[in-house]
Amino acid sequence: MPLADMPALLAAHRAVGAFNFITLEVAEAIVTGAETAGTGVILQLSQNAIAFHGGLAPAASAALRLAETARVGVVVHLDHATDEPLVDEALAVGIRSVMFDAAHLTDAENLARTAAVAERVHAAGGWIEAELGEIGGKGAHAPGVRTDVAEAVRFVSETRVDALAVAVGSEHAMRERSATLDGELIARLAAELPVPLVLHGSSGVADAGIDAAVRAGMRKINIGTHLNQVLTSAVRAELERDPDAIDPRRWLAPGRAAVAAEVERLLGVVTGR
Ligand code: G3H
Ligand code: ZN
Repeated sequence: MPLADMPALLAAHRAVGAFNFITLEVAEAIVTGAETAGTGVILQLSQNAIAFHGGLAPAASAALRLAETARVGVVVHLDHATDEPLVDEALAVGIRSVMFDAAHLTDAENLARTAAVAERVHAAGGWIEAELGEIGGKGAHAPGVRTDVAEAVRFVSETRVDALAVAVGSEHAMRERSATLDGELIARLAAELPVPLVLHGSSGVADAGIDAAVRAGMRKINIGTHLNQVLTSAVRAELERDPDAIDPRRWLAPGRAAVAAEVERLLGVVTGR
């Protein structure tokens, strides 16, 4: 089917799973998992992953082509873009959904830069997510940061963004699914904000926590690290089983299958099916 539209995808599900990919096989697995689950999905390509590949176009082209040929709705989303030219480049290659991340700046600078980028994204017919209250991780920031409700209301109204990533207790790149989310804050943000809420760092949240967060009002659930763990564990197991393997397909195929199965399972948790 044609590349999905983010507002339509969100409207069709109680919440949508947004999975990060670095390699082609993981992008394929995310689409396969969504097709098996029978739900739409978001294929996310972060600025970090783009840096690994040395440019946007090859990975973006593959993701867009996968989306266009999928049997379910697939949105291709630029994740955690801190460079404004990268947002423009993504729009130019056909990506219509972006996260502009200026949360590392002061709130005033974040607001001013995000508003300017939102204007350009909307002029190009795109959809934009921003972040308020930096969601830390990798040791850089305290996990206790929380988004202030009144500041969030003002930020959304002044920037005109279409969705907001909020800090409610999760942290990026957690290896254990042990984060405790502030459900009361999620519910207050959902009640006060006119746009969908996005949960980042969802790898650190257990299934029951994801379900509770969605019930409280989270609409887009971002998962990256957990899929990397699933892929690497499956590849490691296969290489231990068959240490003489040379053809990468021998170990990529079980890795891809493991990721597809986990995406299918997690989409069940996210969508409540
Ligand atoms: O934007 C991507 C997500 O927030 C992924 O975070 O790798 O901790 O699941 P995670
Ligand atoms: Zn994130």
